[in-house]
Amino acid sequence: MIRVESLSKCYDTGRGKVRAVRDMDFEVERGEFFTLLGPSGCGKSTTLRCVAGLERPESGRIYIGDDLVFCGETRLFVPPNKRNIGMVFQSYAIWPHMTVFDNVAYPLRVSKKRFSRKEIRDKVEEALLMVRLGGLFERPATQLSGGQQQRLALARAITREPNILLLDEPLSNLDAKLREEMRIELRDLVRRLGITTLYVTHDQIEALAMSDRIAVMSEGVLQQLDRPAQLYNSPKNKFVASFLGAANLFSGEVELDSAGGARGTVNTELGHLICHLPEGMKNKDRVIVSARPEKIGIFQEKPPEGENLIRGNLQSIVFLGDSTDCRVGVKDLSVRVKTVSTGSLKEGDSIYIQLDPRICTIIPID
Ligand SMILES: Nc1ncnc2c1ncn2[C@@H]1O[C@H](COP(=O)(O)OP(=O)(O)OP(=O)(O)O)[C@@H](O)[C@H]1O
Ligand SMILES: [Mg+2]
Repeated sequence: MIRVESLSKCYDTGRGKVRAVRDMDFEVERGEFFTLLGPSGCGKSTTLRCVAGLERPESGRIYIGDDLVFCGETRLFVPPNKRNIGMVFQSYAIWPHMTVFDNVAYPLRVSKKRFSRKEIRDKVEEALLMVRLGGLFERPATQLSGGQQQRLALARAITREPNILLLDEPLSNLDAKLREEMRIELRDLVRRLGITTLYVTHDQIEALAMSDRIAVMSEGVLQQLDRPAQLYNSPKNKFVASFLGAANLFSGEVELDSAGGARGTVNTELGHLICHLPEGMKNKDRVIVSARPEKIGIFQEKPPEGENLIRGNLQSIVFLGDSTDCRVGVKDLSVRVKTVSTGSLKEGDSIYIQLDPRICTIIPID
C-alpha cells in the first residue's frame, strides 16, 4: 500500500548538511498498522513527511497504492493534495474559528463524496466520543487544552476514513492513563475501518502495543524491521536491544561446545554463560549477550540446580508499583533485574541471579 525504496533526505541548515534519512526501505501492507520508532532526531517525521509529499527527498522512490508519487531519477513529485491520505502532524493544526464539532465535520461537508446531515452527525459524534471530547461539541476549538486539541486533530483525520492515515506522535500530549486507553481504541478503530496506518512514535511501549510491524530507526538509518515480539526477543543489534525496553548487555567471546550442537559458552565480563548460539558461530567470535531485566531470576539462597547462576550483591531496590527494579552488583558490573516480588530482600544482601540460557539472546558484533 505504501512502498518506500532507497529514500534519502538531507536538510541544508546553512551550517552544513544534515542527513536526516539515509537509504530507507520499507513496505506497508494494506490494512497494516506500521510504526516508525526511534529516538528524537532519528528521522521519523522526515520520513513521514516525505510520504505525505511535504518534503522533497534527494533520491529514492515512493509508491502509494499502485501510484508512483515520487521518483528521484525522473524528479517526479506528486503534490500532497493529490496523494489521498489523512495526516495528523506532530504540531497539529486545527481551525481556530470553528467549534469542535465543525472542525471534525468540515472535511466531510466539503468532501467529493456526499454525506447527509445525519451521516455527518453520526460520524462526527462517533469520532469525538472515541477521543473523549463528547461533552465539548460546541466549544470553540481555541478554548481547548493542548491534549484536547491533539485529540480533535485525530478525530478530524479519522472521520474522513482515508485509505491511508499518517500519524506523527498523535498521543504525545495526553496524560499517561488517557494515552494508554486511546492507544488500544485508536488501533482497534483503524483496524475496524481497514485503514492502512503509518505511525510515528519515540515511545517503545506505544509501538509495541499498537503495531503489526515496527521499523526501528537510528540516525536516519533503518536498524531492524520486524513484528513487536520478534524485535523484543531477537534484537539484531545493540541499538535495538537497548532501545526497545531495558536490556543488560555483556560482551564476550564464543567457546563452542566440544560435543557440537547449538549450545556453547560465551565468556563475558559477568562470567561464563551457557547460551544457545545462532548457526554459523565460530570459536572466539565476539558477541554480545542480551538479557532482559524481567527475565532474570533473583534468589536469596542458591537454588540447588540451574545453569548460569551468579552470585551478586543487591545494590539497590526501587519499588515501582507493579514491579520492583533491582540493581545487582557482580564484580564491577551492575545488572538490572525486574521482579514482581522481592520477599524479604533488602539492600546489601548477598544474593544469586540466574540468566537461564533460554533468556540469553546473542547479538553478533559486525
Ligand atoms: N526543516 C529542517 N531543517 C533542518 N534540519 C532539520 C529540519 N527538520 C528536521 N531536521 C533535522 O533532521 C533530523 C531528523 O529530524 P526529524 O524531525 O525527522 O526527527 P524525528 O525522528 O521526528 O524526531 P522527534 O522524535 O524529536 O520528533 C534531525 O537531526 C533534525 O534536526
Ligand atoms: Mg518528529
